[in-house]
Amino acid sequence: MNQPHLPMDPEQRVTELRELINQAAHRYYALDSPTISDAEYDRLFAELRALEEQNPALVTPDSPTQRVGAPPLTSFTPHTHRERMLSLGNAFSEGDLRDFDARVRKGLDYPADEQVAYIAELKLDGLAVSLTYENGLLSIGSTRGDGTSGENITPNVRTIRAVPLRLKGNAPDFLEVRGEIILTHAEFERVNEQRSEKGEPTFANPRNAAAGSVRQLDSSITAQRRLDCFCYAVGAMTGGPRFATQHDLLKALEEWGFHVNPHYACLTGIDAVWQFIQEWEDKRETLEYDTDGVVVKVDSIAAQRTLGATSHDPRWAIAWKYPAQQVTTRVNDIIVNVGRTGALTPVAVLEPVVVGGVTVSRATLHNEDEVRNKDVRIGDTVVIQRAGEVIPEVVSVISDEGHAGRAEFRMPGKCPVCGADTERIPGEAVTRCIGISCPAQLKRRIEHFASRDAMDVDKLGEKIISRLVDTGTLKDPADIYYLTLEDLKNVERMAQRSAQNVLDAIEEARSRPLERLITGLGIPQVGATAARILAEASGGIDNLSKMTGEQLQTLHGIGPVVAASIAHFFSQDETKAVLDKLSRAGLRISVPDKTDTDNRFTGKTFVFTGALEAMTRPEAEAAVRRLGGQATGSVSKKTSYVVAGESAGSKLDKARELGVTVLTEAEFRELAGLS
Ligand code: IVH
Repeated sequence: MNQPHLPMDPEQRVTELRELINQAAHRYYALDSPTISDAEYDRLFAELRALEEQNPALVTPDSPTQRVGAPPLTSFTPHTHRERMLSLGNAFSEGDLRDFDARVRKGLDYPADEQVAYIAELKLDGLAVSLTYENGLLSIGSTRGDGTSGENITPNVRTIRAVPLRLKGNAPDFLEVRGEIILTHAEFERVNEQRSEKGEPTFANPRNAAAGSVRQLDSSITAQRRLDCFCYAVGAMTGGPRFATQHDLLKALEEWGFHVNPHYACLTGIDAVWQFIQEWEDKRETLEYDTDGVVVKVDSIAAQRTLGATSHDPRWAIAWKYPAQQVTTRVNDIIVNVGRTGALTPVAVLEPVVVGGVTVSRATLHNEDEVRNKDVRIGDTVVIQRAGEVIPEVVSVISDEGHAGRAEFRMPGKCPVCGADTERIPGEAVTRCIGISCPAQLKRRIEHFASRDAMDVDKLGEKIISRLVDTGTLKDPADIYYLTLEDLKNVERMAQRSAQNVLDAIEEARSRPLERLITGLGIPQVGATAARILAEASGGIDNLSKMTGEQLQTLHGIGPVVAASIAHFFSQDETKAVLDKLSRAGLRISVPDKTDTDNRFTGKTFVFTGALEAMTRPEAEAAVRRLGGQATGSVSKKTSYVVAGESAGSKLDKARELGVTVLTEAEFRELAGLS
């Protein structure tokens, strides 16, 4: 490892380092928006630890080295882990790794010629989670927090498909399982796309997106984020099987129904471990999710026990960290892209460089504040970072003499595509082009209308749309349905056969469900979920366009801001013209089956308690709402039914006390017509 540069006065440096680390940790853990790279953080931490080791008098109880993570946010209730969630020591060089092996061999009293049996597991880069099961049922999901106590995020964890609500096979009486919640690259991109369409700030990387999704007070948002969870360790356990090795433990986790990352290997001796690490350095690029290293563990549980742990890390495991895929390059230009809703995104045009095996020539700068905070200027040398296949980002500017003399970035006052004014609404991070006929917006809007989540016009891609907008053939999304073979053949290099294929795809896209049409219109603030609600409630686009803001607000899941946005959208002449054209285009829009909206639960209030088997609680609550009823969190005399799942607690007692009707899950399903 590079020896950190040690300044003259250790006391001063220690204070400085603690401040930097605390600040960075707060941004990272509490705000999910890191200011420095992980590698930089690790370096600062290592330097602080080294200084404290050399000067024990400088160690204070509140030094960041004295705790594992950061305090939980106040908005969730704290959950105390039965067994502490330890962190791991890091290895950054082959030397660090061999030192670890030497310590293990010494601790286990191994003779020079005997090799240690290790297990090497790819280290997933996400958010650590602890899952508690009581009598086989998931009772609590919690973040790590400071290792002793984390945040209770149970409703959110329950939305993750990879987390079993009930263990398969022989379940221990009590079990804490530890794992990592992650987001795949594809999901990360989808989530960010959606956010930028809504004018919300995008996540910097999949880990922040996973953390942000899990630390959501509204679990229905978490549910939309298709998170994954891979498990790798067990905390407290009573009444379960005894494991001889970590490998046995992984197999048991799999049998209980957890996802276990398949990329691990049982290896004899540290040489084999080193080989595994080198093998995965490039190979990890091909994975669908981010890995930042390899966790090396002594395989035998008995040996782990002999070795024990320090106050923060086990002595039997270490985390190998791959060097961050960071390189420096020059910013040749900062350009501004215009999205469907007119959002302007600054993008750094870079001197091409290779990062993690891929040549990169652009990096996103997210928004105006981001450029300002990092103070990126044209001509600067910057550190850029690539996490897996994700679009690279500018991490920081390397200060040089020329920087101060270069112009500060300013968001253009005119749209770079159509020349209309741009505006930034106070309190929002986004700047928008307000031009109603901006071709950039029009292209994105038509692309969105034709996209897979909307009207799904297969074969009508970005390039064709761009050409057809440029030639004035497409002036709004409805024009798609009026395209002729001639129009398409006029598009550069399009053969008769391809043109016909596009026409066939358009023909097929005349029949689509109403909710897709609503999604496709690109109403600001309306995504797929809101579109479904609107489709069910309105029964047709005509009805929807006539609904007032007040009427829309009464729909469950539509708040005042979204309601106002919808009403405003339909009040515009441009919208009316598009709807008119669409209605003449011979679309066959199917309307959702109304049988569910016969409101059999109107006036009824439901409270769910305990674990459900066949569905998650949000699903059950959604079913109640769909049928006109209400789902609430606490039992009162006004409650119509309490649905009690397994291990139902105090709410069930309260229901009995108040004489409220108690239903089993099966009875509820029958009542709701779900079984
Ligand atoms: S074992 C005492 N195994 O990395 C055992 N951790 O840098 C502690 N992580 O806090 C954890 N993959 O959040 C373990 N296969 C794996 C892991 C893993 C990712 C995370 C975990 C841990 C952090 C330490």
